[in-house]
Amino acid sequence: MELASIRDFSVQGKRVLVRVDLNVPLDEQGEVRDGTRIKASLPTIRYLLERGAKVILVSHLGRPKGKVKEELRLDSGAQRLSYFLKKKVHKTTQVVGEEVHKAVEQLSPGELLLLENVRFEPGEEKNDPRFARELASLADLYINDAFGTAHRAHASTVGVAEFLPAACGLLMEKEINILAGCLELPQRPLLTILGGAKVSDKIGVIKRFIGLADYILIGGAMANTFLKAKGFELGDSLVEEDKLKEARTLLEQAQRKGKDLILPQDLVVVKELKEGAFSKINAIEAVEPGWKAVDIGPQTIEKFTRLLREAKVILWNGPLGVFELPPFHRGTEAVARAVAQAQGYTVIGGGDIVAAVEQFGLASAIDHISTGGGATLEFWEGKELPGIAALRRSKEKKEER
Ligand code: 3PG
Repeated sequence: MELASIRDFSVQGKRVLVRVDLNVPLDEQGEVRDGTRIKASLPTIRYLLERGAKVILVSHLGRPKGKVKEELRLDSGAQRLSYFLKKKVHKTTQVVGEEVHKAVEQLSPGELLLLENVRFEPGEEKNDPRFARELASLADLYINDAFGTAHRAHASTVGVAEFLPAACGLLMEKEINILAGCLELPQRPLLTILGGAKVSDKIGVIKRFIGLADYILIGGAMANTFLKAKGFELGDSLVEEDKLKEARTLLEQAQRKGKDLILPQDLVVVKELKEGAFSKINAIEAVEPGWKAVDIGPQTIEKFTRLLREAKVILWNGPLGVFELPPFHRGTEAVARAVAQAQGYTVIGGGDIVAAVEQFGLASAIDHISTGGGATLEFWEGKELPGIAALRRSKEKKEER
């Protein structure tokens, strides 16, 4: 790997600033609803604690936009972390400043401190060098383990790497190795499933996969936009009218490369979008005004399942229907079962599909569940993520010296 690794440094007694992604969903009481990302950050934290580092964690939660928002404090994250580690997690109420410096001074080797939500500071999202330098002044070494936030060029993901020796953590390393490994000289057939509401979020990924994947399966509301671009009338289904031209271009690009974007053949449609609403199955030619698509139909499930059986690598982002409103989870669930049973190597990424797969009790049957949503999509697009680029630059600079 062309990045420095946490393993390259001796950390005993050193102050190590670790960017983690503790941006997890909270419930109405402000408690952690899904601790998957917190769990994923444990190997790096344990690695450092066991080697006698003074660990200083920094993370964001939500989008407070440079202001203190009480409901976005990281206390619940600290509690969950402490529960997983069976260890006290010290926490500051600020991100930088006197309180933080004192807390760092009081840390002993093998102890852990979590700073307050880094996005409370206006300098974070602006990648303000002054703020980055202030963060860096807390530590001797910077580890970026926040793969889920690596697509953001912020002070705690990019700027700080200018001021400290920098390396990737174990989670960052694992995500990069697996995601890159699936796409470099991939085993074939390489199959991708893209769902979710918007084509606009996935244009870059579809473009890349047209050149790279053997099968591109499309479901969810974004499939409606492609179906409409092909000339089907979809009743009252959600369609991104302003993306029809782009969808047509992607269909043509795929055709020129001899690839099909594999769209639904049938759909589950309802008049009213609510749990348990009366529904029927329609061919894509037969959606009437007043009806809207909420899931893929049985023929589509069968086709997707057949292709999944022969795939050697499967990459999936985005649900195939309104899985939160039963029974419109059925398409997503049936395909998730086929993915779980597939012989090929399976990767899923993105908050919604990860939540769906957890809900179906299938998470343990997936080979890799990425902690990235937007980050995974941008990685699949072939972009170098700013957080990763910063680590690469830091290593190049060190080698020049
Ligand atoms: C995510 O949840 O995708 C990451 O934590 C990044 O969060 P953001 O989209 O608010 O930058």
